[in-house]
Amino acid sequence: MQRFERVGEIRQQVDEWRMSGERIAFVPTMGNLHRGHLRLVEQAHQHGQRTVVSIFVNPMQFNDQDDYAAYPSTLTQDCEKLVEAGVDALFLPSVAVIYPDGYQQNSQVVVPGLSDILCGAYRPGHFTGVATVVAKLFNIVLPNVALFGEKDFQQLMVIRRMVDELCFPVKIIGVPTEREHDGLAMSSRNGYLNVDERQRAALLYRLLKEARSQLLAGNVKIAAVEAQARQALEAGGFRPEYFSVRNAGDLSPATAKTQDLVIVAAAWLGKARLIDNICLNLG
Ligand code: PAF
Repeated sequence: MQRFERVGEIRQQVDEWRMSGERIAFVPTMGNLHRGHLRLVEQAHQHGQRTVVSIFVNPMQFNDQDDYAAYPSTLTQDCEKLVEAGVDALFLPSVAVIYPDGYQQNSQVVVPGLSDILCGAYRPGHFTGVATVVAKLFNIVLPNVALFGEKDFQQLMVIRRMVDELCFPVKIIGVPTEREHDGLAMSSRNGYLNVDERQRAALLYRLLKEARSQLLAGNVKIAAVEAQARQALEAGGFRPEYFSVRNAGDLSPATAKTQDLVIVAAAWLGKARLIDNICLNLG
């Protein structure tokens, strides 16, 4: 695996690959890699002859600078995993390479509406930070396809909309969430859970599944399902931000007529902010 830190260097390598007719599949990450990321890499190999991964902890998407400072870095282990997974190139830029004048001075990519609801309402500026850095990474790496986890459902929608509306020539592929044995969605933030919290953490996914079953059975109102789940989260020691049944196409609140649904949830457990989702179709 080749490592690149400068924009010109990775561009030159990717240009050579493209000129010889190879397709580039790209997996942007913030490092601290787990099985979920490796699944993205595995899928990337199906979509291109060359797989490029980036590791960049993007300060612009953290609305809490302590959270940014505490974000885990495990570069040596990450590199070992990526080599083993058959990655061709790792792009590892510094903050100064991505934001030479600081991210506050950088042009911004705003995806209006979608960025301001759910996680965006609790983390102002987060999705503008994500969209901006992903746009920059796409323009640096110039991939044919890019892969993102479905655990970050709203992020995936923001990126799809940005790509669509700004006409990026990149195909976006969503990859199903990897889970622990008890159903907890894999996330770098799971490392913030203590032993007791880790045992309780799978409640979030259990409640999503329960809510889906209730809606599929068709005998409960959406508001009742949401309220019941929030109460159960509180009883389980979580501090829920939202547990909400939405239209899977645009994340607007679901009505009794919406068929294609996603139930999205975010809740704090100790120092970890956990998010997860589950889709269902009532058609
Ligand atoms: O999902 C992530 O790890 C990040 O939000 C991303 C897409 C790499 C942008 O920094």
